[in-house]
Amino acid sequence: MEVFREIPALRHKLKEIRKKDAAIGFVPTMGALHKGHLSLISQSVEENDFTICSIFVNPVQFNNIEDLKHYPRPHSLDIEMLGNYGCDLVFYPDENVMYPAEPQIVFNFGELENTMEGKYRPGHFSGVGLVVAKLFNITMPDAAYFGKKDLQQFAVIQSLVKELNFDIHLRCCDTIREHDGLAMSSRNVRLSDADRQAAPKLYEVLCLGKEMLQKGVAPSLAQMKMTEFLKKNGNFVLEYIEIVDSENLKTVTDCKNHSTISICVAAWLGNVRLIDNITVF
Ligand code: PAF
Repeated sequence: MEVFREIPALRHKLKEIRKKDAAIGFVPTMGALHKGHLSLISQSVEENDFTICSIFVNPVQFNNIEDLKHYPRPHSLDIEMLGNYGCDLVFYPDENVMYPAEPQIVFNFGELENTMEGKYRPGHFSGVGLVVAKLFNITMPDAAYFGKKDLQQFAVIQSLVKELNFDIHLRCCDTIREHDGLAMSSRNVRLSDADRQAAPKLYEVLCLGKEMLQKGVAPSLAQMKMTEFLKKNGNFVLEYIEIVDSENLKTVTDCKNHSTISICVAAWLGNVRLIDNITVF
């Protein structure tokens, strides 16, 4: 597995790969890899001839400076793991390679900016859109792999690909969970012992909501009961629990009018912000 830190050398290498008509799969990450990321690598390895992973902690998508400062960066370990999972190439650029000058482009993803992550993390999706567009232009993959835990991020990237005519097949892969249900996240290592114990309640509340909606409970009542549950279980500071149409992430008031519904949640435990979601139908 080769590691590239500069764009021209990477482009040169990928030109050679493309000459062989190889299908290229791409997994963009911010490092601190866990089994969720590695499952994306495995899926790409299965579906393509050549797999690229990028490791770049993208400063412009952090709306909270403390979060950026404390984001884990075990990058040597990450690279070692990628080699063991069949990844063919790692792109691991420095900040000045990705942003030689202060970026001026700002994305606005319309309605997706006014709900859930968009509402609570202003500027976040613009930063995600910018780095993903740059990485797509640099790597020009056939397919790109993302985790379903970041459901709204996936919707944003779908919109980016559609509006900018990227010829890339997007794959949204299942969330990988710890044995107790907690969705894997690079931020989980920052949870205190007590908060780590409480954290699986976030998945429990999603399962509870799913059960209620499947039994015909009205979304507004289910949302109220889920909020109460989280108040009673652990020191969660809830940002949102939203019941949304999985296709467009618009709020659902009546399940009958939608073919696919998800419940999305974001909450703080101490100084760690956790998000998760579940598909109901
Ligand atoms: O999901 C992530 O890890 C990041 O948002 C991404 C897509 C790698 C962009 O920095």
